[in-house]
Amino acid sequence: MRDTNIGWGKVIVLGEHAVVYGYPALAAALDRGVTIDVVPTRGGSLRLSVEAWDLKLEASDGPRRLEAPDANPMARGLSAIADALGIGRPSLSLIGEAQIPPGAGLGSSAALAVAIAIGLAKHHELMLSDDAIIEAASASERILHGKPSGIDVALAVHGGLGVFRRSTGLRPFSAPELRILVGPSGAPRSTALMVERVSEVTGAAATDERLTELGGLTDVGATALLAKDFAALGVAMNRAHHVLGSLGVSTPQLDMLCQVARDAGAWGAKLTGAGGGGAVIAIAPRQREAAVLAAWKQKGVNGFVATVGG
Ligand code: MEV
Repeated sequence: MRDTNIGWGKVIVLGEHAVVYGYPALAAALDRGVTIDVVPTRGGSLRLSVEAWDLKLEASDGPRRLEAPDANPMARGLSAIADALGIGRPSLSLIGEAQIPPGAGLGSSAALAVAIAIGLAKHHELMLSDDAIIEAASASERILHGKPSGIDVALAVHGGLGVFRRSTGLRPFSAPELRILVGPSGAPRSTALMVERVSEVTGAAATDERLTELGGLTDVGATALLAKDFAALGVAMNRAHHVLGSLGVSTPQLDMLCQVARDAGAWGAKLTGAGGGGAVIAIAPRQREAAVLAAWKQKGVNGFVATVGG
């Protein structure tokens, strides 16, 4: 098991929403995420705090409390992880440090859940496989997000770059280095709501041609990335953003942030994750990256560069 209790953040390069319906998604873990320190306390219950997110909560007592509709979903998520590990409610303080913003489409809740699962498993000397960690963290994700595809948790555990399918999980993929510009818009959003919206718009039919196209764009983009054809990858990203917009998960702000990135010289830009707020990503020739980040800054967005693959 790893030395640090860390769950990695992630960006979906192509394939969000379609991945829920079984299509492939190309995604990469960020080089940052959430770490957890496990500190024994005298008495008290299982507590969690993440100062950077202004988050402080206590696990709910037991299965009955889990079902209480008014209980804080994060507290229920924490309880679900503890239940999956079979450890009851130990007197522990979980101190989280987050290097990614919450609710921004960067996999923050999965990163937190994975870091908690690893930290608790280690503290209780449970020798858990990656699959068991995925299962425990997924119990929390299901409470927070309804029926997630599992892509966020898989990336949070494994890191790296890969193609994820519901049926096969994450297949790591050895690709040339890719520099992804990430722009958290600052607008909050709900993954569950956006997944629900896509389900309504498509009639939850995997055969919907927009979902099929998004799945196809993942294949096109992955092939382009392998061939280091970043311009072609950018074209696929632009198209994916358009299709996601037609599914009702973009916003005028996300459209604007993508457009200013393209105007500043990006090969391509799109929303990443569930949409409805959250973050956009762009790829650009190295000499245009500063211009893209400056264009976002002018719109009040502090972007950063994430290097993946390589
Ligand atoms: C969330 O990061 C990505 C979505 O495709 C939902 C999921 O896969 O569970 C929108």
